[in-house]
Amino acid sequence: MENFILEKIEGGVQTLTLNRPDKKNAITLTMYQELTSALDKAKKSHDIKATLITGSGNDFSAGNDLAEFVQLAQTPDKLNITFDFLHANATHPKPLIAAVEGMAVGIGVTMLLHCDLVVASDSAKFILPFVKLGLVPEAASSYLIPNLVGHQKAFELLVLGEAFDTKTAFEIGLVNKACNAGDAYSIASEYAAKVSELPSEAVQLSKALLKQPYQDKIELTLSRESRVFKERLSSQEARDAFTAFLSKK
Ligand code: COA
Repeated sequence: MENFILEKIEGGVQTLTLNRPDKKNAITLTMYQELTSALDKAKKSHDIKATLITGSGNDFSAGNDLAEFVQLAQTPDKLNITFDFLHANATHPKPLIAAVEGMAVGIGVTMLLHCDLVVASDSAKFILPFVKLGLVPEAASSYLIPNLVGHQKAFELLVLGEAFDTKTAFEIGLVNKACNAGDAYSIASEYAAKVSELPSEAVQLSKALLKQPYQDKIELTLSRESRVFKERLSSQEARDAFTAFLSKK
């Protein structure tokens, strides 16, 4: 069986690599399950101090696998596997670091909202295409993006769904550090090493304190979005959009 999530644990850092480069690291249910288990392992492990998420090849992730979305419309409860990952990502107690090159689409962007340190290179292109796909925002992005940029800009990013670059991602506070193409992983690794050398309990308590003022809102938003998202998956608008992509119209 192909291994679509690679895991490496070294020097207190767990590195998770989305490894499906021929599909621009689009994420399937099996991959979500593996990511959730890996985060759970990191949460319980004394030895893992931080987790770095990256993509193999030239891209971070083209988001949810659209072919699987078509099947999920028939079995919407299976979407809970995705929601379990979103919850694990949003409530992970240890530092999450991301290294982004190339395409970051849908959940490939929204998962960054729950990371603590994000490095993106000049090659990165961010897209939130939910509405164009007949869907609605997920991963608490309908709360967190307006919180970052205000309603009008959030509408532009989440509803118009136009692509934005690393400069914009840096300016709106989604990205800590912008770098040259090809350098994201090594800079993110330096961040991961730095944070994993800090006193671990103090890091975790500080992350919890930083997030506490709005953590309840994140969890409420996650469940509100999940309900609507599940309904939208079988809508005619969504089915038309998936068919168009899969037949490359
Ligand atoms: N799900 C399934 N397959 C995907 C995918 C996705 N989300 N994104 C890309 N792929 C596949 C393509 O079908 C193609 O496969 P093929 O070579 O077997 O035909 C391969 O990855 C390369 O993608 P391609 O579309 O040829 O690359 P591109 O550079 O022209 O465009 C994107 C890149 C990311 C803009 C484009 O692939 C895209 O729009 N993908 C869908 C993104 C999306 O809507 N994600 C869901 C968010 S909720």
